[in-house]
Amino acid sequence: MTIKVAVVGAMGKMGQEVVKAVLADASCELACAVDKFGVGTLVTENISVQDDIKTAFSVAKPDVVVDFTQPSVIYENIKLYMQLKVKSVIGTTGLTSEQLNDIEKMSIENNTGCFIAPNFSTGAILMMKFAQEAAKYFSNAEILEFHHNQKKDAPSGTAIKTAELMSEVNSNFKLNNCDETETIEGSRGGCFEKSNLQIHAIRMPGFVASQEVVFGSSGQTLKIRHDSINRECYMGGVLMAVNYVVKNNNFMYGLENIL
Ligand SMILES: NC(=O)c1ccc[n+]([C@@H]2O[C@H](COP(=O)([O-])OP(=O)(O)OC[C@H]3O[C@@H](n4cnc5c(N)ncnc54)[C@H](O)[C@@H]3O)[C@@H](O)[C@H]2O)c1
Repeated sequence: MTIKVAVVGAMGKMGQEVVKAVLADASCELACAVDKFGVGTLVTENISVQDDIKTAFSVAKPDVVVDFTQPSVIYENIKLYMQLKVKSVIGTTGLTSEQLNDIEKMSIENNTGCFIAPNFSTGAILMMKFAQEAAKYFSNAEILEFHHNQKKDAPSGTAIKTAELMSEVNSNFKLNNCDETETIEGSRGGCFEKSNLQIHAIRMPGFVASQEVVFGSSGQTLKIRHDSINRECYMGGVLMAVNYVVKNNNFMYGLENIL
């Protein structure tokens, strides 16, 4: 049986890649494509972009929806998927920890699976794992994340997730730093308060998504870096999540749980 996949945000940079990946995967079929932009555009034979999720789903009856839209709409979209009892794979970033807690509760109440990952690329997951390991051994660390200049939220979901993982094993990354004053506000980036970890977000054309975690201790530095060269790197992880969620009804946060 093929998995019927709806793609929401289908005209976006990630959404277009998901449509291609679903069409190329023999275990999936594209059920419908939804976006606020490009309504009516044919994405494949017989399937054109629609603008209303409820209407599209009522006809296409997807098994799973993959959502790559925008931080400003994602929470409401997930509430709708729960209400419609359609399992979801969420790549859209920008959800707060309170919202994530609410979504987990909704998933249990509605017995509807929901898989959220701030990063679907396997290399980035490994970068986070290695950063967590190194965090045990270094007194200081800072995160630099690099994205294209159309990214709306900062810092990236990946940077926040990396900071969370590192904070589980080290509670202060500014050990022995002197008192700091900023002559220009924001020069030191944002502070992840759980562990005093500074995060710097860089936005410019030329990047898809990169992250470097820089560690320092007396007499040495270590850099762990991952670069997404193009958006194909996320598709293996997205399809893995689709295959997971179709068989499970739980809430899951992070691709590392199923790698
Ligand atoms: N989890 C990951 O691995 C990963 C990787 C890359 C990007 N992202 C995230 O995915 C999201 C999308 O990124 P992008 O670069 O494709 O953005 P994009 O702006 O190119 O695409 C977003 C698309 O969503 C559409 N959209 C917005 N609101 C909508 C709504 N209410 N209903 C339907 N469609 C709607 C827009 O018209 C647009 O086509 C961002 O939050 C980004 O940070 C996640």
